[in-house]
Amino acid sequence: MALLIKTDIDRGDAWAEALAANYPELKVYNWPYKGDPAAIDYALVWQPPEGELKRFPNLKAIFSVGAGIDHLASDPDLPEGVPVVRMVEPGLTAGMSEYVTLAVLNHHRFMLDYAAQRRAKVWEELLQLPAEARQVGVLGLGVLGRDALEKLKPFGFRLAGWSRSPKSITGVTCFHGEGGFAEFLAETDILVCLLPLTPQTEGVLNTETFAKLPAGSAVINVGRGGHLVEDDLLEALDSGQISGATLDVFQEEPLPEDHPFWEHPRVFMTPHIASMTVPETAVRAVVANIQRLEAGEALQHVVDMKRGY
Ligand code: NAP
Ligand code: GLV
Repeated sequence: MALLIKTDIDRGDAWAEALAANYPELKVYNWPYKGDPAAIDYALVWQPPEGELKRFPNLKAIFSVGAGIDHLASDPDLPEGVPVVRMVEPGLTAGMSEYVTLAVLNHHRFMLDYAAQRRAKVWEELLQLPAEARQVGVLGLGVLGRDALEKLKPFGFRLAGWSRSPKSITGVTCFHGEGGFAEFLAETDILVCLLPLTPQTEGVLNTETFAKLPAGSAVINVGRGGHLVEDDLLEALDSGQISGATLDVFQEEPLPEDHPFWEHPRVFMTPHIASMTVPETAVRAVVANIQRLEAGEALQHVVDMKRGY
């Protein structure tokens, strides 16, 4: 059995070593692969060039290296009938919850204001608010959204979440669907986007959405750049409707050099690193899934390509 692997950042031999340790019988080939395409059973990929996966006639499953599969869904030549599996693994989940917690606390504790004061050499104490004075609202109550909310619980924020289908989560006020969107936003002071990018969620962070938040709310986008209408955010920052933003993902990555976000004093940004798949733990999830399929059982975390996530 053979698996072809293409990851985004060079982790040296970490993937190959983890695969060898967890599944010694599996032959692992790195991208680009020059051998017989018919010999490849599985692909574990991040952003493969469009049309490339179609070259492998015997693929049994395509594993996304990341949680998001928009990089695969956008391929018009994605092989039909081959299941696409999104990444669900504890390292990726833990990293995202760390980032979301950090970003929420940054906004809650006025760190953008203190950064501005520092640049201006101003020594001024801003009034500290108790956590329960703020509601953190998470768009997307999937694997990552739910874990982030769990990790935020001990701080004492009021917590809310929004998903497509109804949910019940202890300590979290849950809203769903278009009908629940305005009510969810009305009390949300720190908005976190952890949605998958689909035709339905594209551009969800826009002027209309910002206007439904309490004035001075903060926005954290760790979903995809396509969720945010960037000009709408710039306008909302200028007007003060949004007091600050933490952005990890952008319409164009890397962010163009002349983009206003680079210099914006009310934007904290990172280069799409909110979380990274950890080869050592991810491999266990992938191997367990391959073994499930080889034993005639159903794969876990298969994407519904019609729904887009
Ligand atoms: P997931 O488990 O599939 O959860 C997706 C959630 O979004 C579900 O709760 C789903 O609702 C909700 N949703 C989808 N479409 C919706 C719609 N139209 N309206 C309302 N809710 C909708 O995904 P995940 O593993 O948590 O990952 C979420 C996303 O995070 C990924 O797709 C990826 O884009 C992003 N991500 C970013 C980074 C980074 O470094 N920046 C890292 C990892 C992941 P239901 O529960 O009702 O189905
Ligand atoms: C990263 O962006 C991921 O989808 O895992």
